[in-house]
Amino acid sequence: MPTSDEFGRFSIDLARQAGEVLLGYRGKLRSVRHKSSCIDLVTEADIECQRFIVSKIHKAFPEHSILAEENLTDEGSSKYRWVIDPLDGTTNFVHGLPIFAISIGLQIDGITCCGVVYNPAGGTLYHAVAGQGAYCNGEPISVSGQKNLIESILVTGFPYEHDEKFHLSFELFHEFHNRVQGMRRFGAAALDFCFVASGQLDGFYEFNLKPWDICAGDLICREAGGKVTGWSGGNLPFQGTTAAASNGLIHQEMLDILRQDNYRLFLL
Ligand code: IPD
Ligand code: CA
Ligand code: CA
Repeated sequence: MPTSDEFGRFSIDLARQAGEVLLGYRGKLRSVRHKSSCIDLVTEADIECQRFIVSKIHKAFPEHSILAEENLTDEGSSKYRWVIDPLDGTTNFVHGLPIFAISIGLQIDGITCCGVVYNPAGGTLYHAVAGQGAYCNGEPISVSGQKNLIESILVTGFPYEHDEKFHLSFELFHEFHNRVQGMRRFGAAALDFCFVASGQLDGFYEFNLKPWDICAGDLICREAGGKVTGWSGGNLPFQGTTAAASNGLIHQEMLDILRQDNYRLFLL
C-alpha cells in the first residue's frame, strides 16, 4: 500500500483534476435540483465531479471504502475510507461566487491521514499529511497568533434544516457578534477550516455539518497548529454535529460561549 505521502500526492492530483471538472460547469449549469428543501441544492457539477473522483479512486484502490456526499456510502470492510465533498459551497457555485471547493480526506482505521481542500476558482489548494504540517499551494501555513476573542475574526455557517437549533443559532451568532471584531459567513465549511489554518481567520464554529464537510479541513487546521473539537471540548465528532476550530489561543473563550446552558440543545 502507498505511504501517507503517496496518498497525499494522489489526493492533490485528484483534487486538481476534479477542479477542472467543476470549472467546466461554471456559468454553464443546465440543471439545479433541490434535495432536502428548496435551499438545499445539487447540480450536475456536484454529481459529475463526484463521479469523476470516485471513478479515479475505484481505479487506483478498488478495495477502499468511500463516503461521499451525493448518496454514496460504500463502506465495505476496508480500513481505508475516503471522505469526499465533490462541491462544498454549491449555493455559491450556482450564483457564480468564487467561494467553493473540493474536499478529499482519507482515513485509515478512522484516523485522517491526509486531506486536500481545493478552491479552483481562487487557485488555492490546501493540503496536509498527518504529522507533516499544512500547506497552501505548497507553502507552509500556520494559524494566527491572536490571543483575545474580542480582537478576533470568526466565521460560521448555518444548516439547510430550519428547526429549533437553527433558530437558536441566531442568538448564538448575536452573542459572538458582540464578543469579536467581526463575524463572517462564506458558505463553504471546508474552506472555513482552511481560512483558520492559514491565519486569515481566528476561529470557526458550526453545527449539523457532515463528515465530508469536516474530514479534510479538520486535519489541515490541526496540522497548521490549530485546535479542532466538538462544542463540548472533546474530540470533533466524525458526523460533524458540532465543530469548533481555532488558532488554539482563543479556543477556551469560544467554548465558554458554545457550552453555555442556554445553548445546551446543540449538545443533546
Ligand atoms: C454546505 C456548506 C456551508 C455550510 C452547510 C454545508 P454544501 O455544504 O459547507 O458552508 O454552512 O452546512 O452543508 O451543501 O455546499 O456542500
Ligand atoms: Ca459541504
Ligand atoms: Ca457538497
